[in-house]
Amino acid sequence: MTTPTITSLAPLLDRLFDQDETARDVMRAAFTDVTDADRVRMMRSKTGYRDLYARLKDAPLAVSRETGHLLYMLARSSRAKAIVEFGTSFGISTLHLAAALRDNGGGRLITSEFEPSKAARARENLSAGGLIDLVEIREGDALETLSADLPDQIDLVLLDGAKALYPDILDLVEDRLKPGAIIVADNADHSPEYLARVRKPGNGYMSTPFAEDVELTVRIH
Ligand SMILES: C[S@@+](CC[C@H](N)C(=O)[O-])C[C@H]1O[C@@H](n2cnc3c(N)ncnc32)[C@H](O)[C@@H]1O
Repeated sequence: MTTPTITSLAPLLDRLFDQDETARDVMRAAFTDVTDADRVRMMRSKTGYRDLYARLKDAPLAVSRETGHLLYMLARSSRAKAIVEFGTSFGISTLHLAAALRDNGGGRLITSEFEPSKAARARENLSAGGLIDLVEIREGDALETLSADLPDQIDLVLLDGAKALYPDILDLVEDRLKPGAIIVADNADHSPEYLARVRKPGNGYMSTPFAEDVELTVRIH
């Protein structure tokens, strides 16, 4: 039996998750001049997200280890071939998804990041993991970079960029979601508009909160 790619990535992922843990101090330092309420407002704002993520450009802000496992498992179990990711950062979630594509026999992962230094780090990490050939990192605002040239059928979407934009990114991919497509939205509690849309019966989705802060959604028609 061959070793699953996710298993051989363990040392790299351990190093990156450790980096994420250490960067929590960087995150705290980035917000000493901002109240908690203002930070939440920035997270939920459709205009403040550039400032927010510029402050956080040195932090990986990765999904949890558990969510990483979940992403790999969902991409494997759905035999995903075409994946779109909103919010690459250092590429930790991207590594999990690309590992699943490799173990599914190949595919295409389009991911999006507007901080150039983060896109460069993601490229390095995906190269170190031997997965860069499966990944297209689109640099710039995802509202633009994901507005064209997407796969005809998308199997899985990860929403993990600016929370206020989740409905707008869903607009960009919605027509291409195949029946049964999976959407994982991290920290979706900061996007009430998105939650209302995917949870509303009749909108074509089934959706449920999952684990601590993940919304798991399936396109049902
Ligand atoms: C929470 S982090 C992503 C973490 C990553 N998914 C992981 O688990 O490793 C969110 C990232 O999205 C990027 N981002 C936020 N809004 C964006 C937008 N509109 N277009 C492109 N990138 C965006 C930020 O710069 C940040 O690096």
